[in-house]
Amino acid sequence: KWPQRVFSGIQPTGSMHLGNYFGAVQRWVEMQNAGEDVIYSIADLHSITLPQDPKQLHSDILKMAATLLACGIDPDKSILFQQSRVPEHTQLCWTLGCLTTMPRLAHIPTYKEKSASLKEIPLGLYVYPVLQAADILLYRATHIPVGEDQVHNLQLVQHLAKIFNNRYGHTFPIPKAVIEDSSISRLKSLRDPSKKMSKSDQDPRSRVEVTDTPEDILEKCKKALTDFTSEVTFDPENRPGVSNLITIHSLFTGLQPAEICEQNVCLDTGRYKLVVAEVIQEKLAPLRQRVQEYMSEPQYIEQVLQKGSEKASVIAKQTWKDVKTRVGL
Ligand code: ADP
Ligand code: NA
Repeated sequence: KWPQRVFSGIQPTGSMHLGNYFGAVQRWVEMQNAGEDVIYSIADLHSITLPQDPKQLHSDILKMAATLLACGIDPDKSILFQQSRVPEHTQLCWTLGCLTTMPRLAHIPTYKEKSASLKEIPLGLYVYPVLQAADILLYRATHIPVGEDQVHNLQLVQHLAKIFNNRYGHTFPIPKAVIEDSSISRLKSLRDPSKKMSKSDQDPRSRVEVTDTPEDILEKCKKALTDFTSEVTFDPENRPGVSNLITIHSLFTGLQPAEICEQNVCLDTGRYKLVVAEVIQEKLAPLRQRVQEYMSEPQYIEQVLQKGSEKASVIAKQTWKDVKTRVGL
């Protein structure tokens, strides 16, 4: 009954890393180029669930927009917008928050992970998944391309859509996650392969960012944590460190992990790290160049975000109007 529509978002804090790129953004571009109806959000309201420096945040928002454009997001084919420019996100968040319970939110793994090290947990961090639900439902999106880490968050979105529909009549489609083959969709931290690669990791050596210099890339690959076995073998369960490097190598080249192991059979992991670094350096160089070109045109970026946000607003206003009528506001 609902037309197919794709929605996804990325937080602007810090730079886009390989996990974001292969877990989500690459797919965003494919869906856009396949002619789907696609909406992509720079989720700045999500970023402030943890403390941010205002100047840094502002420049991170522009940089994320520039990076998405450099990755192939085309503002004529996609709606690319900044979340805080569309106030209906927070209005729908409130409405949905009134339909769920505190225990339900407390069990979401991304919340547990992010709050584990905090002495005092901001309310916004707790409510974060409800805002995510509002992001998606506001556009009545049906397909949500995300990394594997987002599965539980999406279950909450589905739950809230159902509760709302049951209580107030059919208003929202039940969105589906579109997830890359899980064996390769979740890149690990280079410093601690038991954790995912993340922008919010304190240690910048834990991730390769798509705008890293060749020197940064080499340093990070050399320092990547591996085990005491020197052979290059692919065994994500028992050898997560070297397997993560092989996964990155595989994602960039399209070679299967088995082929990569065969090609590098005479190298030890120390030497193999240099091979991976070289692959990453070569593949990221043109992307990094394009980001720099976009960054040198801040007025253009501003204009993209403004126009995108205007387009998003048209849809958001219509949904919010329907929601208000149904709820009786
Ligand atoms: P981060 O956790 O790095 O701050 P975001 O919350 O902005 O990333 O997520 C943006 C997208 O990137 C989401 O779809 C998320 O699932 C995906 N993503 C984040 N980290 C990884 C990872 N390590 N592997 C695969 N996908 C990831
Ligand atoms: Na995240």
